[in-house]
Parts: sequence; structure tokens; C-alpha cells
Amino acid sequence: MLEYPQVVLDFMNRDHAEFVALRGKLLELLEAQAPAEKVDTALDELHEHTRRHFAEEERMMKEVAFPPYPVHRSEHLTVLADMADHMEKWRTERDAAALREWLEKPVGEWLVNHINTMDLVTAGFIKMNQ
Ligand SMILES: [Fe+2]
Repeated sequence: MLEYPQVVLDFMNRDHAEFVALRGKLLELLEAQAPAEKVDTALDELHEHTRRHFAEEERMMKEVAFPPYPVHRSEHLTVLADMADHMEKWRTERDAAALREWLEKPVGEWLVNHINTMDLVTAGFIKMNQ
């Protein structure tokens, strides 16, 4: 299981746990060489979860007028665009090794890095200003 730092807001920790679980489920499906349609469904779930999770963080940041909001939001947009690209690629090429590689390395590293550089500070600011 991927190790990641805890922040001071429970809802964010729950979202991160769900993200890690959905990523783990995808890796298991790929490992087991599951049918592509099952992988499609799990990818849709990860994408949908990520959109909701980011939207909720963005709503809270706006509510407390978090000054670096644009920086945090732009990283969210980059991640969603990258996710959409990889989903599209998977759907056209069905390259399980490439999908797995992306989930294992960049996605895992992104999550830990994003929590460290964005979410920790954001959660602290929201908690102080609520
Ligand atoms: Fe975030």
C-alpha cells in the first residue's frame, strides 16, 4: 500500500485513502490480467472520484479565500488532463503494461508530492479559517 502523509482535515484524508484504494484496485486488476472492461470501469471510478475530490478541495479553498488557490487548482487541472490522456490511450491501445507503469510510478509519486506540497498547507489554512 502507498504511504502518504496525513493532513489536519478528515475529509481530505478520507479522499486520499479512497484514491489510494482505487489505484490499488486498478493495479490488482492489471496484475490479474482482468478483462479490459473491468479496467475501464475502475478507471472511470478513479477519474470520477478524483474530480469530486478536487472540486471539494477547491470549494473549501474558495470559501476561506486561500491565497494560493490558483496554484493548487492549476495542479488539479494538470492531473485531470493527464488522467484523461492516459484513459484515452488505454481505450485505444489496450496497453496494460503502459497503464500499470503510469499508475505505479507517476500517479503514486504525484499523490505523495501533491499532499506534501499543496494539501498539507491548504488543510492547515482551511482549518484555521473555518
Ligand atoms: Fe489537492
